[in-house]
Amino acid sequence: MLDRFNRKINYLRISVTDRCNLRCHYCMPADNPCMLRHQDILRFEEIQQVVAVAAALGVDKIRLTGGEPLVRRDIVELVSMISAVPGLSDLAMTTNGILLPDFALPLARAGLRRVNISLDTTDAVKFREITRGGDIQKVFKGIEAAREAGLLPVKVNCVVGPGPHGEDARGVADYCMRNGLQLRFIQQMDLQAGHFGIVEGGSGGDCKHCNRLRLTSDGKMKPCLFSDLSYDIRQLGIHRAMEMALDTKPEKGTVNRLNCFHNIGG
Ligand code: 5AD
Ligand code: SF4
Repeated sequence: MLDRFNRKINYLRISVTDRCNLRCHYCMPADNPCMLRHQDILRFEEIQQVVAVAAALGVDKIRLTGGEPLVRRDIVELVSMISAVPGLSDLAMTTNGILLPDFALPLARAGLRRVNISLDTTDAVKFREITRGGDIQKVFKGIEAAREAGLLPVKVNCVVGPGPHGEDARGVADYCMRNGLQLRFIQQMDLQAGHFGIVEGGSGGDCKHCNRLRLTSDGKMKPCLFSDLSYDIRQLGIHRAMEMALDTKPEKGTVNRLNCFHNIGG
């Protein structure tokens, strides 16, 4: 699929839930004001159909995000259903890692290829603050489990502020070095204010070379993280929604007033 600006679109990011077991301050409001209703969340069959249509149109790379994808019930089953779709070369997941000790192996067996794990600090107290209560030991164990399960390469996403890297970023860099993990620094973004940053060592935030579409957990196909454009797959049909997202994909992102990170995916 080529868009109006001749960008090749071969990557679909799918948010499978807007729920999360952490509450990172830059992503989640403390008190869940805008959670989706159950009936609005896509069913597994619908997600699988989207992947099938996308694959037929030339998408070969899928990433599952959230919220936290591992809190979606029967996520392993969903991974099996997606990995059964012909034509995919990559199936990855972005996760906070908390539940990976239990899920890494079943996910790998179901066809997940690899994971990106969020880690903004290696300091247990700081981690608890950032995530409003998370236990960093679980993430360390999750990273280990991912490696043992062969979800390789394990990448670490580290959200950083503007300016030179601080102690936390340096700590994460150290940890990644020692453990053979690929590290990507992500500038903290603000969807509403239109502040978007590039992903150091990754592919996000570079509009000229953007290759992706997004699907929200309630079935809106979105051409761009920093845009209010969205096309409902249930109203329009999957094929039409995807075509419309492709045909209206903006040259550059601006602002997104309608979504938060937890319902569109990082
Ligand atoms: N800015 C940058 N990255 C964010 N993420 C969540 N919210 C933001 C934000 N405001 C990232 C997380 C994780 C992924 C799910 O998205 O750190 O790596
Ligand atoms: Fe959960 Fe990730 Fe958002 Fe943190 S950044 S609250 S781990 S979805």
